[in-house]
Amino acid sequence: MEKACAVLLAAGDGKRMKSEKPKVLCEVLFQPMIAWVAKALAGAGIENCCAVLGAGYEQVRGVLPAHYSVAMQHERKGTGHAVMMAEDYIKNGDFRDVAVLCGDAPLIASGDISAAYDQHKTEKNAVTVLTAKVSNPTGYGRIVRTDGKVSAIVEQADADEATVLIDEINAGAYWFNAEFLLEALKGMGTSNVQGEYYLTDTVATAIKLGRPSGAYTSHPDAALGANDRRSLAILNEIARKKVIDRLLDNGVDIPFAGQVVVGPSVEIGADTIILPGCILKGETVVGNGCEIGPNTQLTDAAIGDGCKVVSSFVEASRVDDGVSIGPMSNIRPGCHLGPDVKIGDFVEVKSSNIGAKTSIAHLSYIGDSDVGTRCNFGCGIVTVNYDGNTKHRTTIGDGVFVGCNSNLIAPVVLGDGVYCGAGTTVTKDVPAWALVVGRSRQTVREDWNKSGAKFKKGNG
Ligand code: UD1
Ligand code: CA
Repeated sequence: MEKACAVLLAAGDGKRMKSEKPKVLCEVLFQPMIAWVAKALAGAGIENCCAVLGAGYEQVRGVLPAHYSVAMQHERKGTGHAVMMAEDYIKNGDFRDVAVLCGDAPLIASGDISAAYDQHKTEKNAVTVLTAKVSNPTGYGRIVRTDGKVSAIVEQADADEATVLIDEINAGAYWFNAEFLLEALKGMGTSNVQGEYYLTDTVATAIKLGRPSGAYTSHPDAALGANDRRSLAILNEIARKKVIDRLLDNGVDIPFAGQVVVGPSVEIGADTIILPGCILKGETVVGNGCEIGPNTQLTDAAIGDGCKVVSSFVEASRVDDGVSIGPMSNIRPGCHLGPDVKIGDFVEVKSSNIGAKTSIAHLSYIGDSDVGTRCNFGCGIVTVNYDGNTKHRTTIGDGVFVGCNSNLIAPVVLGDGVYCGAGTTVTKDVPAWALVVGRSRQTVREDWNKSGAKFKKGNG
């Protein structure tokens, strides 16, 4: 029997963050801290997980994988008390080993969780604590060793002068033998400066019971928690640099790497250049040989090869090879831009399909539209999709020419090859290959403004 589970401690409030929301929802690279830990657990192959949640639990539940169990901790009485809330989960699951992790230490790696587990099993430990050597141990529990073996974890608040100087700290992550953990929780007290149930007391308990305990030295980042906004900003910077390094190693060109932010799940192909001021996040994928930026934000965007996106936004949309967007355009959710589409400056596109090689180059709004291939939109085209109550679609065939400053009032269909004169307001469907012009005729009154009679300034 080798059944393992994880208990994820996440009942902390956002007091030190000065936030209304639970601390574990504070974000590192646009992802809640607890989602990072959940991802690390998944990467280590640990599927049985129980999160201990407190105030604001509905919000936290929403970012956890659906298969997670939840235990509630209504009163915050310390990390040991939090694990007590998961006692039933541990008992009922008949687990042999239990990992305990903190939801506010997002940079723990799957590799460290797995390697610590291997060591825990090899050494047949009652408890294996993940530790790290850090340059500034302030605020963390200190690892006290006797004859090289871990003998206790002492919290900052309880530490004497000598203990405060120890630079090996408790990462807040552990592997426990389940049966030992349940026993240790039973005897746990609150005789410490903070009057809390300390999970860290389990190390001393193991020694008292003559059970083997051990320490696994993890990457120093594993220990980095965020209790306040300053430490959150530091975590963001560490995570940001890691992602940038991975991309550089993959052949992405980021000449001013300090000015680019890329989320952990983003994939970018080789020979793509990312210029300063870009934020790429969510599940964004960018192909090879693209030019992104400066000042571009891509969110859950799928960008093909050889695209150019300059000073623009693209969200939850698919952009095929060879597309050019911007400067200053906004591709909102639900768009598919076909190969070699050109979206120029100050163009907003929403919930629309734009066919290959179509050009919408200037100052336009295209919403809820299906546009064919090889169309040309002049400057200032508006699909009038909203009548004040309902959104309607505009359908445009292949090879359609739409002259400048035209309004297409949806629902409306323009067939293939339609030629729409400039300044037209299209209100009814137009059959294929027709010319449509809908504007008042031009009138000219000769000499009406003779010698600037009606416009004196214009007369010099
Ligand atoms: C804890 C450790 C410390 C370690 C540090 C690593 C203890 C006593 N101390 O200190 O040795 O170096 O983590 O980051 O364990 N939580 C609950 N319910 C509670 C209290 C805490 O769910 O009643 C959760 C928090 O949401 C957080 C985690 O447990 O995710 C750690 O709690 P926190 O108060 O941040 O502990 P630290 O003081 O950082
Ligand atoms: Ca903490």
